[in-house]
Amino acid sequence: MSRHLINLKDLERGAIQELLHLTDRFVEVGQRSIPKVPALRGKTIAMLFFEDSTRTRLSFDLAAKRLSADVLEFPTRSSSLSKGESIRDTVETIQAMGVDGLVIRHSSSGLPREIADRVNDSVAVINAGDGLNAHPTQGLLDAYTLCQHFHTVAGPQASLEGIHVGIIGDVKHSRVARSDVHAYTSLGATVTLVAPKSLQPPNVQDWPVQISEDLDSVLPTFDVVGLLRIQKERMEEGLIQSVDDYVDRYGITEARAAKLRNEVVITHPGPVNRGIELAEAVLEHRDNVLINRQVTNGVPVRMAVLFRLLGSGVEID
Ligand code: CP
Repeated sequence: MSRHLINLKDLERGAIQELLHLTDRFVEVGQRSIPKVPALRGKTIAMLFFEDSTRTRLSFDLAAKRLSADVLEFPTRSSSLSKGESIRDTVETIQAMGVDGLVIRHSSSGLPREIADRVNDSVAVINAGDGLNAHPTQGLLDAYTLCQHFHTVAGPQASLEGIHVGIIGDVKHSRVARSDVHAYTSLGATVTLVAPKSLQPPNVQDWPVQISEDLDSVLPTFDVVGLLRIQKERMEEGLIQSVDDYVDRYGITEARAAKLRNEVVITHPGPVNRGIELAEAVLEHRDNVLINRQVTNGVPVRMAVLFRLLGSGVEID
């Protein structure tokens, strides 16, 4: 595995399985009375979130602290970016302070890769979501959550063979969908994307997936209903007719949820637009909505990534 984690497409199935296996060990650490290990003592990790985040930011922060690393928070809104300092100079400045890892979220696709190409050999860059491009730790935590649910995590042979995942919504603008598709298909799942033509990516025929515009015809075949956040600005861009029309065609309403087999699980990376991609009553009352489990798993998955890239690779305790 490379020194950086920029895109899951850089990882073969075996490397993904190794990270999921390592995650199991950090799940166990999280269950201890003191859920903290000294594995990254003496390491410093800077959190560079140029775009807003709740889950990813806080779980990277918690993961680093549970590994005993020092965490350097970068306050984007009160930094010298407001005086016109470039991101390149900002990163060089932070690097000059002697950090070991940079966790980067930015609205520009490709920025973490550009930074990874520039940093010193001793610095690891981890992509926490870049534009439409990739969200690798979300892909890992979603895959881990499904493997955990379907009891296929134990040991180094995590697998989603035989599982049919539907990914529903704004695939075109979703870095989560891109990373999930790679993670799920690498582990053997079948994936069907469900979206109107206007929200399908331009080169979707090259993706290793099936495609449908008609949710109701494919929904009964899914083991996993993977929802994506509908971004309201897409309506202003004319990519969806109206919220009501979207809910009617693609929302998991109470009526659609009632037709799902009991064992079908629902995932969503968050934040959820309640009442749009997922009905409030389904979110609150249906068993097998795994959204909180996804958030919980974000911490050990990110511990595994930080440990793998910054740790000795041997000792956790
Ligand atoms: N899933 C996800 O990336 O959420 P945040 O934007 O809150 O980090």
